[in-house]
Amino acid sequence: MYLDSEDEKILAGEQGETRQKMLELLVALGKVFGAERLVRIRSAQVSGASYKTIGEYGLAWLSSLDARAVVPAVLNPIGMPRERWQEMDVEPAFAERQQAVITAYERLGVNLECTCTPYYLRETSFGDHLAWSESSAVSYANSVIGARTNREGGPGALAAALIGKTPCYGLHLEKNRNPQVIIEVKPDEKNRSIARYGALGYHAGKMVGNKIPFFRGITPNPDQLKALGAAMAATGAVALYHVENVTPEAKKNRFNLSSLEAISIEPAEIDMLFTGIPVDAVAVGCPHCSPAELVDIARLLKGKTVTKPFYVFAAQGVIENNQKTVDAIEKSGARVFADTCMVVSPVMERYSAIMVNSGKALAYVPDMCGAVARIGTIEDCVTVATS
Ligand code: F3S
Repeated sequence: MYLDSEDEKILAGEQGETRQKMLELLVALGKVFGAERLVRIRSAQVSGASYKTIGEYGLAWLSSLDARAVVPAVLNPIGMPRERWQEMDVEPAFAERQQAVITAYERLGVNLECTCTPYYLRETSFGDHLAWSESSAVSYANSVIGARTNREGGPGALAAALIGKTPCYGLHLEKNRNPQVIIEVKPDEKNRSIARYGALGYHAGKMVGNKIPFFRGITPNPDQLKALGAAMAATGAVALYHVENVTPEAKKNRFNLSSLEAISIEPAEIDMLFTGIPVDAVAVGCPHCSPAELVDIARLLKGKTVTKPFYVFAAQGVIENNQKTVDAIEKSGARVFADTCMVVSPVMERYSAIMVNSGKALAYVPDMCGAVARIGTIEDCVTVATS
């Protein structure tokens, strides 16, 4: 694997033990995956931020490191809103350990934006090389923006943030970004809502595993693409997908699809995921809400009062830039929380059934929160939360 003179100095320990170990990790990863070189990255997004998932062992490892990020780096959602954890009813003992994790990352120069939608806060462009780790963010970056990132583990993404490079293999290489299976989505009489795209992704991810699908028959907008990709990354391991005439590489490239297997998905297969089970809480914003989604929630909640806990999750920067909309949502009694989500916060474990509008949350809530999950449209979520 080619390393430049700067890399050799880091490997020789001239810039400290942490940077030496981090580069050793990247080189080892590169060798495993056959990378010929490292590539400079524009940003990193680091998972392993919730104390719920990394625990004491992860915290001790983070605390032992001594270096600073050399590219913009953000964190994945943590287990609580940094500023409003008491309002979310987070246990003080958990909050204290979560704060220790945050402090450890801050010392490493990682920006404390804790979100799975870093693309709303920092410009990410077609062709950028990244080292992102949260699977829905990886899917959005690759598929919707046309940037290039593998699905990094937390340590790999952190190492890339501290070194500014990542091994150049997998989805960093053009030749590995071609479609591998066609999905024909049959016409659907129902409105293709964000939730319905999430359900489509939930179903499709199970069918394609880690292949790169090429969709036909749909014309999703960016929020719908976000929902589709997040769910496929959860039930499968899809890190890149294309949608005919919609996503940037599908518009730019002439893929040769002639030899690919084609799968078709009927509306009835999606309908089956929409159950009417009773729930005791509603949670939306998986992935974190866009400004447009917040506007939609505020419109639907106008003049209403929630009768069940209604959680809305979004990035802190998105909340700050849309404070009036957030205030309008909270007037109903719903709460818009930053930094965390329905899957990584321990608070959600107190509910036995949670309604979501996300295919990814539908997949993760049962295992991560120990609750039954029900998917519905945002209109259904508001109706259930206010009746
Ligand atoms: Fe984001 Fe949490 Fe969903 S990290 S994608 S809101 S599970």
